[in-house]
Amino acid sequence: MLDRIRKISEEVANFAPKAIEEVEDFRIKYLSKKGLIPALFDDFRNVPAEQKKEVGQRINELKQTALAKLEELKASLQVSNDGKVELDLSRPGDPMNLGARHPLSIVRNEIVNIFTKIGFSVNESQEIEDDAHCFEKMNFPPDHPARDMQDTFFISSDMNVLLRTHTSSGQSREMETMTPPIRSLSPGRVFRNEAISARAHCQFHQIEGLYVDKNVSFADLKQTLDYFAKEFFGEKSQIRMRPSYFPFTEPSAEVDVSCSLCGGKGCNVCKGSGWLEILGCGMVHPNVFKAAGIDPKVYSGFAFGMGIERIAMLRFGVKDLRLFFENDIRFLEQFVAAY
Ligand code: PHE
Repeated sequence: MLDRIRKISEEVANFAPKAIEEVEDFRIKYLSKKGLIPALFDDFRNVPAEQKKEVGQRINELKQTALAKLEELKASLQVSNDGKVELDLSRPGDPMNLGARHPLSIVRNEIVNIFTKIGFSVNESQEIEDDAHCFEKMNFPPDHPARDMQDTFFISSDMNVLLRTHTSSGQSREMETMTPPIRSLSPGRVFRNEAISARAHCQFHQIEGLYVDKNVSFADLKQTLDYFAKEFFGEKSQIRMRPSYFPFTEPSAEVDVSCSLCGGKGCNVCKGSGWLEILGCGMVHPNVFKAAGIDPKVYSGFAFGMGIERIAMLRFGVKDLRLFFENDIRFLEQFVAAY
């Protein structure tokens, strides 16, 4: 019974006539003696005693709503003297809800904006990749663990077609198709076969940066990232680099930014260290240049890659990564975008 009432209530609420005749049809269908709402009253005597109170209330509410809607429709759709239907042009419009940008889009747009100011342009690459661009041309040895089933989602059984595990795959495509100087930024979704938890997901987003020209040095990389940290996290932010390893860069580094919440003093977000890890980077490996047909004796370059979720979690104080993918409107409507 309650289901029936709910269904009729929805129909009544969604009813939007285009002509005055439809308003009369509405009255007949729902409110006339043989209409659907009086039929509910007829069936009311069969409702079990313990449900009578709730069901009775619902039917009465529905009847009132339908009557009010009928009056409103009659008032808004008037018949002019010559019998033609006229819309009431003075009737206020229906309110429209404004959407909000997704927090990941807000952070991505902000990062893109910072790098476009210094000459980078956006090149989105593809999510479905082949082994060559995701791994081989990026100097991954054949037995590298990222190629393992545990990490990579393969699409073809010969393990040649896969979902990219990092946006670095776009680097190999750009270097193949563009001639230096290259200043490119590729935001996008990446996939890894990980158990879903508050800190890890099987899909997430990265932004990749690539800069190739003559005489590009590690100092250029450091300056670029320092500029980014100050623009994004605030004037007082500092970065530090720790030596690291990636097959496609040499030397490689991991970059931490001073914790913007405690100003570097140590808090529970930075786990007392005063630093937060935000990205991986390094100088483009000569083998990567060679695989793309660029002469490493003439050109040098740097690359970096950062996780958008991680940065969005820091920016908005979000503690659970899964919230970004659940599309819960109560979470999403809290974000207001400047971009
Ligand atoms: N692709 C690396 C990752 O997914 C990040 C990276 C990008 C490191 C570019 C160095 C240069 O972790």
